[in-house]
Amino acid sequence: MRVIAVINQKGGVAKTTTTANLASALARSGKRVTVIDLDPQGHLATYLGVNERRLAGVDRLLLADESLSSVTMDVRDNLTLVPAGSNLDAVEQMTNGRLAKSKLLKQVINESLTDQDYVLMDCPPASGLLDIFALYAAKEVLIPVNGDHLSLHGLSHFIGTLKKVESVLGHKIPLHIALTRFHPRRRLARDVMQKLLEYFPGRVLATPVRETAALAECPSFGKTIFEYRPRSVGANDYRQLAQDLELGRTM
Ligand SMILES: Nc1ncnc2c1ncn2[C@@H]1O[C@H](COP(=O)(O)OP(=O)(O)OP(=O)(O)O)[C@@H](O)[C@H]1O
Ligand SMILES: [Mg+2]
Repeated sequence: MRVIAVINQKGGVAKTTTTANLASALARSGKRVTVIDLDPQGHLATYLGVNERRLAGVDRLLLADESLSSVTMDVRDNLTLVPAGSNLDAVEQMTNGRLAKSKLLKQVINESLTDQDYVLMDCPPASGLLDIFALYAAKEVLIPVNGDHLSLHGLSHFIGTLKKVESVLGHKIPLHIALTRFHPRRRLARDVMQKLLEYFPGRVLATPVRETAALAECPSFGKTIFEYRPRSVGANDYRQLAQDLELGRTM
């Protein structure tokens, strides 16, 4: 079982888009996949077409010790969603019992999801505690990076957080970088790509996901790109990216 946190403290870099579409690509290729929404905004459910307003989810696991099976939803063939839940915000505000809760997510995943091939966690931007819980539970991290000038700055901030967690855990967490919302003809985007290759050799997944209208449109229909525009550039890029992750293909 590969447990991967899709994480970047910078907002709007396509964490949720990447979680939903990678998970869908993997599930379509026959893998058993569970996605966990760790963002109190709860966008992952919307991106997957689940629009009930008062969903139970990770909030109940972390705040009320409920079982994972009571909050999972089968959303597609081979694809299960653990929604954020409407009260996940309260976890960030928690002052007592943080230490005990910090290991809970990891424990739940390792006990209840052993039959899964992939567990992908969609992490919130600018978070404190939820990101830390995700990093404790993760065996790998996938960092979506978009090609603007702030992304490298955001990334170095995140690497600082990652290093701290690694020193607490006493082991390294392997990282992958996915180029997202990529404009191949923009010099700035190519510069960011060059810098990433320099700083993280062998870590940048082979396929940049291009910025395309269809990828921005599909969440409002609750569809993945494979349902909305299966033959589009966006579908092709995420299909390739899923294979990159599966096979360890890098630039
Ligand atoms: N390749 C792409 N082409 C066009 N639009 C994209 C692409 N990837 C993501 N988007 C759009 O960019 C916006 C941000 O994407 P998304 O919600 O996935 O980012 P995020 O990192 O999860 O954001 P947040 O930090 O708020 O959780 C959304 O409107 C999404 O539809
Ligand atoms: Mg998001």
